[in-house]
Amino acid sequence: MIYQIYPRSFQDSDADGVGDLAGIESRLDYLAELGIDAIWLSPIYPSPMADFGYDIADYCEIDPMFGDLAGFDRLLAAVHGRGLRLLLDFVPNHSSDQHPWFVESRSSRENVKRDWYIWRDPAPDEGPPNNWISDFGGSSWQWDESTGQYYLHAFLKSQPDLNWRKPEVREAMMAVLRFWFDRGVDGFRIDVLWHIIKAEGLPDNPINAYWTPDRTQRDRLIQLYSTDQPEAHAISAEFRALADSYGDRLLIGEICLPNDRLARWYGTPDRLQVHLPFNFQLIENAWDAASLRRTIVAYEESVPWFGWPNWVIGSHDAPRIAARVGEAQARIAAMLLLTLRGTPTLYQGDEIGIGEVQIAPDRMRDPQHLRQPGLGIGRDRSRTPIPWDESANAGFSTVDPWLPLNQDWQSRNVAAQDRSSNSLLCLYRSLLTLRRSHDALAIGDFTLVDAADEVLAYQRRHTDECLMIALNLGDKTRPLTLPTDTCVAEVLCSTLAERPMDDTLAPNEGVVLRLREKR
Ligand code: NOJ
Ligand code: MG
Repeated sequence: MIYQIYPRSFQDSDADGVGDLAGIESRLDYLAELGIDAIWLSPIYPSPMADFGYDIADYCEIDPMFGDLAGFDRLLAAVHGRGLRLLLDFVPNHSSDQHPWFVESRSSRENVKRDWYIWRDPAPDEGPPNNWISDFGGSSWQWDESTGQYYLHAFLKSQPDLNWRKPEVREAMMAVLRFWFDRGVDGFRIDVLWHIIKAEGLPDNPINAYWTPDRTQRDRLIQLYSTDQPEAHAISAEFRALADSYGDRLLIGEICLPNDRLARWYGTPDRLQVHLPFNFQLIENAWDAASLRRTIVAYEESVPWFGWPNWVIGSHDAPRIAARVGEAQARIAAMLLLTLRGTPTLYQGDEIGIGEVQIAPDRMRDPQHLRQPGLGIGRDRSRTPIPWDESANAGFSTVDPWLPLNQDWQSRNVAAQDRSSNSLLCLYRSLLTLRRSHDALAIGDFTLVDAADEVLAYQRRHTDECLMIALNLGDKTRPLTLPTDTCVAEVLCSTLAERPMDDTLAPNEGVVLRLREKR
């Protein structure tokens, strides 16, 4: 399992209210005990923090707020010392406008780095070169007075898009990957990989006829020419070839596309691309058994034979899973995430079920929300600090943290859940232990099983072991139907402290069963 750390909010060690690398190092025992395999760190590079680190001013350094390269090497060694892997966030689509490359690029039209970014003359009406809309709202084009051209930015205007059609950009970015691989980093999560290259000629994007004002400005258009271009796959294959040249390294692509187009990012058997094109469908899907069943089957069918599936249930960009499905179903979500076929990614804080966090308007920091208020898309509520214990500032920091804590931090914190054997945290630990000790869960086949309404049931099989997972997505008692000619050999895990009758699922109950054939 991959565990995503949002470094600003994991653990502060130097009393500035913002998490840092030394803080992470001090909490590695917690992660090892939880039973994870790898840590993915959201960006830790020097950054003006306009998008909280996704605006990078130097790809090969550490922001002083987080530490320094020596501290990074210590953290990496400590992670490896515990048998864990460390993945970094690689943000190739755009840099900060403070990056020396962009400072040069905007200095004059003749500068050698001018076309490291995407500059265009105004349209005949003096407006932006095309109709593209930034993911954070407003035009994707920013006018530069001194050189009399516009530059492209898919996100904030302080995040100019790099020009991946320029060989020098590709070389410079490959050198960045090598810099970190040489240091011993185990892989990367690649930010907005499907954005990386734009259609030649930058044509207008088509209008989305289904757009309604409750949706983001980005959705006014279909991102036909600004994302998912055929040429991007060659870049993705180059990343993979480099990673493979280092041996056992992992590449994850952040890609938001439907199954058929997502699957292409695995590449082909003779020209592989990323190992895991992130699958966000559990975040987006309605929380009911029938539609989850359809989604899971469709995704399973879309993964090529040489590819490996993956599931994500939360992130620093998405609403908290416990806020979305509620406290009782958060336990079902945990069991689902850890029993589906494929690599699970868990976002920090979801293991203790942090739910909706109220954030006063004057403390909101997320630029996406601040630029488009009122749509309920704020990401701050998923980025609040981890509440470690009952001490001041929840043990996260000795000072007031950069974002407020979850309101219920005095009862919902790591220490409290560690003490209570029925907590969500303990359920996560048990499920991870189970996954480690049963190959059927880790690498077994997946097949759906017929089940009662509101129940999602499936089997995982490996050699002669057959496990069945049954999840009650509703709040009514439901029958537990087993496949013909089988009976329960052992209840390996229940999301509830007490299992009811053998042939039923209690409201909101999920179980992992070992089946055997009836004699
Ligand atoms: C995706 C990241 O997850 C998000 O946090 C960021 O704002 C955008 N990419 C832009 O880098
Ligand atoms: Mg700090």
